[in-house]
Amino acid sequence: MQENLKTDLYPLTNDFCLSVFNVEMPRIIVIGLGYVGLPLATEFAEKFPLIGFDICPKKINQLSKFVEFPVTCDESALVNNDVFIIAVPTPITSDFQPDLKHLEASSKLCGHYLRKGSIVVFESTVYPGVTEEFCGPILEKASGLKCGKDFFLGYSPERINPGDNNHTVEKITKIVAGQTSETTDFLANLYGSINNHNIYKAPSIKVAEASKLIENAQRDINIGFINEITIILSMLKISSYEVLKAANTKWNFLNFEPGLVGGHCIGVDPYYLSCLSQELGYTALMTLAGRTTNEYMVRFLGNQIHSRLEKSSKILCLGITFKEDIDDIRNSKVAALILYLKQFGHEVVVHDPQADPEETRKLYGIDLIPTYRDLIGFDAVIGSVGHKEYRHLAAEDIQSMLNPQGLICDIKNLWSQLVFSQHFRYWLL
Ligand SMILES: NC(=O)c1ccc[n+]([C@@H]2O[C@H](COP(=O)([O-])OP(=O)(O)OC[C@H]3O[C@@H](n4cnc5c(N)ncnc54)[C@H](O)[C@@H]3O)[C@@H](O)[C@H]2O)c1
Repeated sequence: MQENLKTDLYPLTNDFCLSVFNVEMPRIIVIGLGYVGLPLATEFAEKFPLIGFDICPKKINQLSKFVEFPVTCDESALVNNDVFIIAVPTPITSDFQPDLKHLEASSKLCGHYLRKGSIVVFESTVYPGVTEEFCGPILEKASGLKCGKDFFLGYSPERINPGDNNHTVEKITKIVAGQTSETTDFLANLYGSINNHNIYKAPSIKVAEASKLIENAQRDINIGFINEITIILSMLKISSYEVLKAANTKWNFLNFEPGLVGGHCIGVDPYYLSCLSQELGYTALMTLAGRTTNEYMVRFLGNQIHSRLEKSSKILCLGITFKEDIDDIRNSKVAALILYLKQFGHEVVVHDPQADPEETRKLYGIDLIPTYRDLIGFDAVIGSVGHKEYRHLAAEDIQSMLNPQGLICDIKNLWSQLVFSQHFRYWLL
């Protein structure tokens, strides 16, 4: 595989000639080609000899049809690389504990192929200490080399936001940190070459790890506060979106929206922080409060919707991905809401223009309908994900699907600008 790489296609950059590691054209392997690894590999592949590695043969098969760099699930590709970039998942277990099994497996794997001078950079979101105290020893054991002497660790947290075309890999400030200042400089040059040198050098790996965690925990807490306000306001029968619109006219009011917090970052990373904190002997009350409130939103929304409906209503749910304009359904709280509504005896018909029907069936046992246009006879329509397609619906489109007195549940503020006929009920969260 390595022979297939035409290194003369990759021009030398001056920065790299100056690198303390004296590697003029480092060979990079990106391990884990998901939402994080793939865009990163794509950018690096334009400048350096690069291989993409993933353990999932189906993914490799699909990717090999359109990416312009070699991708493989063949372990032998790990031989002869200078930089190993690991971007594997860091989920939580069913009891909300950090699940480091993918990091463990990928570190073990890399360890077998490390050589003197190699650098292993982690991009996965972790709590402070994981790179050096968990992954480092695994790499050492598998390689028989000394960490910090023979090979070096780095950490560079990923900030991309899938579905967001403004904040892409090459435009975001990238934090880098290395085990030694030489490693940090090397990583600053490496990453800087793909993002116009928009680099922040963190003073240590632990600082870089912690910075990523608090970025996501802060979002979660802020959304949690707005969700709490939404719950209180609902008891007063006041729309939180209307209150937020008014409050947002103040220059320093923070602009967060209420709703379901799913996915595998914001809804997961705070647990990494709170578990670490617990281990250290402190209960991270604020962090956990954000999580608790945000987790509660599934039941809150379910109860709100149910209380506005007759028994065994027919509901159309528009959207199931964990957020707008992406296809990712993992840890979708909309799916949890759908299953919750079904428990009341309601029939819930689900559409999503982005989600994969097979995956959705496999993960949640929910069948997606291919189109909702021309469907009629629903007691409620829920705007549950802000996909562009749903944002552009006209009042008539929605009304035509509803029975008289039908309920429009606008939990994502998709349709507050529309004027609905008084034969229908409109509920804005
Ligand atoms: N998705 C995001 O928006 C985002 C943003 C910032 C940070 N992160 C963090 O980045 C990390 C990766 O997230 P993601 O969304 O890209 O995950 P993902 O699930 O989309 O992709 C991970 C890939 O790693 C592969 N993989 C798993 N174990 C492997 C192994 N041992 N060896 C090789 N490949 C392996 C999987 O097959 C998968 O293709 C996580 O820690 C996540 O928290 C994600």
